[in-house]
Amino acid sequence: MFRFSKTLLVLALASASATAFAFDKYQGVGRQATPAEVKAWDIDVRPDFKGLPKGSGNVERGNELFEEKCASCHGSFGESNEVFTPLAGGTTKDDIKTGNVKGLSSGELPQRTTFTKVATISTVFDYIQRAMPWTAPKSLKPDEVYAILAYLLNLQEIVPADFTLSDKNIADVQKLLPNRNGMTTDHGMWPGAPAKKGGIGNGGKPDTANKACMKNCKPEVQIGSTLPDYARTAHGELRDQNRSFGPVRGTQTLGPEAAKKAADAGTLELATKSGCMACHGMKSKIVGPGYSEVVARYKDQTDAESRLIAKVKAGGQGVWGSIPMPPNGHIKDEDITTLVKWILSGSK
Ligand code: HEC
Ligand code: HEC
Repeated sequence: MFRFSKTLLVLALASASATAFAFDKYQGVGRQATPAEVKAWDIDVRPDFKGLPKGSGNVERGNELFEEKCASCHGSFGESNEVFTPLAGGTTKDDIKTGNVKGLSSGELPQRTTFTKVATISTVFDYIQRAMPWTAPKSLKPDEVYAILAYLLNLQEIVPADFTLSDKNIADVQKLLPNRNGMTTDHGMWPGAPAKKGGIGNGGKPDTANKACMKNCKPEVQIGSTLPDYARTAHGELRDQNRSFGPVRGTQTLGPEAAKKAADAGTLELATKSGCMACHGMKSKIVGPGYSEVVARYKDQTDAESRLIAKVKAGGQGVWGSIPMPPNGHIKDEDITTLVKWILSGSK
């Protein structure tokens, strides 16, 4: 709500002061973003460390923070592959010397990790600061990002256990990154002169061997990465866990049917914990009516939900017989709402 009303305020201010800004192209439309607004969005950290905030953090603090904010998904040592490929592991002391992760080309690695792939430490800093923890992106302070990154670097045996990472020494750490020389620019994502001619690309040519499709082509091609099946459901529906706004909601890990199943299972647990299942069966009457009997009775009544919520809360008798349902005032309102919705949706 706060976010919403603040937006309105900004809009109101914007229209009030729109005339104060001279706009060449879009006269009267919106206003120029203020430097403070631009700064709030402009948080990217580049390979040359432009954009890097000042700060520092040590391995020990990073260990604590990681345990608290990251380990549930990535494992205590960044080793878990439950939600994503592991963050840590897969590099050797030799890789730190050469700057090329040998396991990537030899095929010896069972699985890639963040530190086998990444060529610039700024990218990891930027990513954590921008996107993690998954459930609360942009919540970390710069010192916390430094500390967590120090911990990950220590896991990777790039820095010692008593190390403090800071904006002063991060450039030195870059020189120890295992895959720092592993970045290729010789593909179509890098337009411009080919690398052979001193540029950083291959002239914008795509790097696939396929010919362009000219007939009977797929109307739509989906490109993306998919979690392996065993990993998909380990943390529930990731899509519902962050970003309640905007077009990008995160990956749907359960699929609509499985998501409903998981939600149903959770609600059944709630119903059992709340004592409802002592008197109600899914299908048939125990003390009170079976839930499918309730669904059948109310299926055409649009106000059933609110009436039943009130009834469950207050208790009562006479609809199904003379035995009363005792009041359920000790159960949280929101739980009663969840339970009634679940019953009416044809609980399973
Ligand atoms: C609720 C689960 C969850 C938590 C908690 C979490 N992450 Fe993640 N993390 C993910 C998911 C899912 C991805 C993949 C995201 C994607 O590709 O969109 C990811 C990706 C990453 C990556 C990129 C890996 C790569 O190689 O591309 C890094 C680095 C990372 N997380 C670090 C962290 C750190 C540090 C924390 C704690 C501050 C954290 N994560 C907390 C779920 C989580
Ligand atoms: C001690 C037994 C008992 C418990 C515990 C109980 N109920 Fe009931 N419930 C009944 C009885 C008996 C009725 C029938 C009341 C009537 O005839 O008006 C009933 C009726 C209902 C109805 C239909 C109401 C109507 O007017 O048609 C719903 C929905 C319901 N219960 C849900 C719940 C939920 C959800 C819980 C747990 C929070 C719960 N009940 C706990 C005995 C119980």
